Amino acid sequence: MDDLAPLPALATGTAAPAILDIQGVGKRFAFGTETITALSGATLRIPKGEFVCLIGPSGCGKSTLLRMIAGFESVSEGTLLMAGRHVAGPGPDRGMVFQDYGLFPWLTVRQNIGFGPAARGRPRAEVAATAARFLEMVGLDRFAEAYPHQLSGGMKQRVAIARVLANQAEVVLMDEPFGALDAMTRENLQRELLQIWESTQLTVIFVTHAIEEAILLAGRVVVMSPGPGRIVADERIPLPRPRDPTGVEFNALRRHLAALLGSRH
Ligand SMILES: Nc1ncnc2c1ncn2[C@@H]1O[C@H](COP(=O)(O)OP(=O)(O)OP(=O)(O)O)[C@@H](O)[C@H]1O
Ligand SMILES: [Mg+2]
Repeated sequence: MDDLAPLPALATGTAAPAILDIQGVGKRFAFGTETITALSGATLRIPKGEFVCLIGPSGCGKSTLLRMIAGFESVSEGTLLMAGRHVAGPGPDRGMVFQDYGLFPWLTVRQNIGFGPAARGRPRAEVAATAARFLEMVGLDRFAEAYPHQLSGGMKQRVAIARVLANQAEVVLMDEPFGALDAMTRENLQRELLQIWESTQLTVIFVTHAIEEAILLAGRVVVMSPGPGRIVADERIPLPRPRDPTGVEFNALRRHLAALLGSRH
């Protein structure tokens, strides 16, 4: 395969309605007397239920794009629609999972997971049932009463994922969520995340530096480049799951994406 040849697109047919519609979105930051263009002209239409990976070198605007979708940052130009409505701020429909977990250290695992529904004033019995359901989904029943400092990194990240799911997020935004974990824990969590994604209607947008992780997980990989940050490619990953990183097609995709990134992976 020619490294830079486009891959055959999957037939989209009657495409699912876009849960996220990103049209010409840009972000400028004031930095002293200068203006930094972190992102320029990003256009992306993401149907409900898709698993999208964003890859690209440091500084290409991956986190900025995620933070704008989350509503933590305003949009400098273009339009950003979630389920047809302008994103005006954070909301429980979009949950963020960070590399450094972002758990509340003073709450137990159960309380962390139930935090969103409790904060929204859901009845106590419902909060308990929701927390129990997602504790089980991420396999942490036995650690329900533990505090975050008593958990391993992988367990903390399971809590962070469960907390977002318990908040009824429709879109899960993950910013290098497994970057701080050892290889074995990362592989387990990748597998678990795919199981959760397959058994729910979730839309996942997952930022990673690792080409291999993107090919392992995503249905679609969006490649970004810096200076200013922009989208340079949008590729389907047409491999059935579970995927074999030692397979011929997997390797061809790895070379293809590495060429698009201009790296020597
Ligand atoms: N609050 C801010 N103020 C000024 N500049 C910012 C701010 N946040 C991000 N930037 C700039 O925007 C650009 C994109 O940053 P961003 O964090 O989105 O990159 P990234 O692709 O996530 O990088 P990494 O892979 O290192 O996490 C960078 O040049 C960065 O310096
Ligand atoms: Mg980042």
